[in-house]
Amino acid sequence: MKVTLTIDKQIIHVERHTPIIDAAKKLGIFIPTLCYHEALKPYGACRICMVEVIENKRSKLVTSCNYPAKNGLEVFTASDRVKRTREMVVELLLARCPNVPVIRQLANEMEIKAARFKKKDDQRCILCGLCVRACEEIVGVSAIGFVNRGIEREVNTPFGIESHVCIGCGTCTYICPTGCIEMVVKADAPGCRYLNMGDLALDTCPNSYQCEACKIEDQFFGEMKRVIEDVRSIT
Ligand code: SF4
Ligand code: SF4
Ligand code: FES
Repeated sequence: MKVTLTIDKQIIHVERHTPIIDAAKKLGIFIPTLCYHEALKPYGACRICMVEVIENKRSKLVTSCNYPAKNGLEVFTASDRVKRTREMVVELLLARCPNVPVIRQLANEMEIKAARFKKKDDQRCILCGLCVRACEEIVGVSAIGFVNRGIEREVNTPFGIESHVCIGCGTCTYICPTGCIEMVVKADAPGCRYLNMGDLALDTCPNSYQCEACKIEDQFFGEMKRVIEDVRSIT
């Protein structure tokens, strides 16, 4: 069923429950994102995609990647309230990750020179959860997940030990927007790779490093190709 709403005063008709971010895209309106990916379920973690909506005469801020289009909704993607809140989110991220290019770029675009908040350790992970969801939803192994709470929250393997389900496919590396997870060539097995995420090595090769005869990567890249084709077919 189609619904009618306005985004930045432009009328649009979309299927009910279409995320606002996708409806805005159809109108050529860009909304910045960090934790959103078309191939994954929305998560609403980073808050960069915040927009203001007026619903039942009440105004509120919502995350556009997971807020559904509804009849009569008025959406504003760049109101003063949106800009102020988005700037605050970027400042917080800048305080956490001052040297991450994607965060620096967002800060530059918003003309934020430096974060007002006290810097913690210089980190690279913005806790967007893309790697965790890709590992679960695309690869289907859930080798990594979030652990701890608050400022201790981080991505890790269960119990922080070497994963025995990670297939070393590199999807988490590919999807990570900050370069936090790296593929590293294994010194004692040239041609093979392992994942390096801070102190964590996800070093597991179920095929004893017999890369040339390895069917695991072939299967994985076949599945990835299918997912990418599905995503491309979304108009
Ligand atoms: S490399 Fe391992 S942790 Fe990363 S997505 Fe693939 S299976 Fe998951
Ligand atoms: S490692 Fe990368 S993809 Fe995973 S949560 Fe951190 S920033 Fe996001
Ligand atoms: S992109 Fe919507 S909350 Fe991150």
